[in-house]
Amino acid sequence: MLTENQIQSLCDFLKPRLSKKRFTHSVNVANEAQKLAKKYGVDSDSAFIAGYLHDCAKELSQEEQKELMSRSDFPIDKVEYVATPLFHAIAGAVVVKEQLGITDAGILTAIRYHTVAAPNMSGLSEVIYLADLISEDRDYKDVKHMRKLSYESLNGAMLEALRFSINDSVKKGNAIPVSTLLAYNDYVQRNKLSKEKRENN
Ligand SMILES: [Fe+2]
Ligand SMILES: [Fe+2]
Repeated sequence: MLTENQIQSLCDFLKPRLSKKRFTHSVNVANEAQKLAKKYGVDSDSAFIAGYLHDCAKELSQEEQKELMSRSDFPIDKVEYVATPLFHAIAGAVVVKEQLGITDAGILTAIRYHTVAAPNMSGLSEVIYLADLISEDRDYKDVKHMRKLSYESLNGAMLEALRFSINDSVKKGNAIPVSTLLAYNDYVQRNKLSKEKRENN
């Protein structure tokens, strides 16, 4: 379990970097991620840390975010290079690694993919992706439905979230990052398999 000192030092790092609103969002995502982690047998300290830090680069300038991205070890596709709202996830993983010395691959991956998702996501990455969508401060039309779904099935909630995200991008005329499409295909398959399993039992 994280000690109060560990949480305090994360807070000392994060708080000066974010507006009050985004800091509150980060705390909410950390708490939600911890709850989901407990429900699904994911390491809850990792969930708290990744949730807390997921938006740490969001209020840096676009130039700073781009510069951080150039040092990322993760693959970045063409769509992500031009979609400015997606920069902060890739940049955030670099900040966490370089400035906090966190090298845990699970945490770094969860932060990096919290905007676009990816195929073969770990439970931790799923928990962060969903916690970001359903945290207490979120208020959109289907948020209640997403909250309910997130506590029923990770695969089901991820598929629904990706469906929404892809539909929304298409409506707005935006391109879709390859990892989002691969994630969607992955969750279609995972849900199909679990449906077949249920039917055969
Ligand atoms: Fe974000
Ligand atoms: Fe967020």
